[in-house]
Amino acid sequence: MDKKVVMITGATGGLGSAMVKHFEKQDVKLALHTFQQDPFDVDCEHAWFKADLRDENQVKNLVSSVLANFGKVDVLINNAGISKNGMSWKLSSADFNEVIAVNLTAPFLLCHGLIPAMRSNNFGRIINISSVVAQTGVPGTAAYAASKAGILGLTKTIAKELASQPITCNALALGYFDQGMISEVSAEMQEQIISQIPKNKLGGVETVLAAIDWLLKDESDYVTGQSISLNGGLFT
Ligand SMILES: NC(=O)c1ccc[n+]([C@@H]2O[C@H](COP(=O)([O-])OP(=O)(O)OC[C@H]3O[C@@H](n4cnc5c(N)ncnc54)[C@H](OP(=O)(O)O)[C@@H]3O)[C@@H](O)[C@H]2O)c1
Repeated sequence: MDKKVVMITGATGGLGSAMVKHFEKQDVKLALHTFQQDPFDVDCEHAWFKADLRDENQVKNLVSSVLANFGKVDVLINNAGISKNGMSWKLSSADFNEVIAVNLTAPFLLCHGLIPAMRSNNFGRIINISSVVAQTGVPGTAAYAASKAGILGLTKTIAKELASQPITCNALALGYFDQGMISEVSAEMQEQIISQIPKNKLGGVETVLAAIDWLLKDESDYVTGQSISLNGGLFT
């Protein structure tokens, strides 16, 4: 049987690189996306693709390059994401649009470009990385929260559109994890965040990987359109 092709955007980031290390131990091919960081060695059949997800043409080229290289994508993990912070009345529309482009428009375009191949292969798993910030709202995160809330609506709609086929689309709404974006937050602010988390600690990437593994199982075919919260009890 053909090996599954797993595509991960933002594969050089904190969570993305942990996903790559996890999947390289499995019998899959990896289509890995990076923006600015240098690709790293991966111990299985893989290819790196560079694209600025703010640019629609680059996203379209990314889709065609991945399909030209692998012929299909079975699993799409829309993981790349950015945040530009500022109170709504101070945030520039340029910053707002940039966040929407990377966090929402690019995942849409990737789904748009890759779903036809999933439909003809009669298999697909789409996992969109969202955030607890979309569920609760956090001052200063208007663009990020809007983009990550948009992803939840996109997820539910795509799930229903594809429900008659063995293709699922789900979102992981992450709380605060000990890798990636958290490094941009001061130690003082991290302490404040942790004090609000019922589990009283940041999440570990193993929780994200376990959720992804579960969504990829054949038995999880019945799980679609969901926003699965991994947040230490922060939002229930
Ligand atoms: N870590 C957390 O606690 C947490 C919590 C909730 C949600 N999330 C979500 O989880 C996902 C991964 O986050 P992370 O924490 O691993 O963040 P990260 O380490 O900052 O990684 C972000 C990734 O996005 C890529 N990226 C940034 N700008 C881009 C652009 N213009 N075009 C294409 N790619 C671009 C980065 O590429 P370069 O490195 O090459 O610039 C990087 O690979 C994001 O969607 C984030 O919103 C994370």
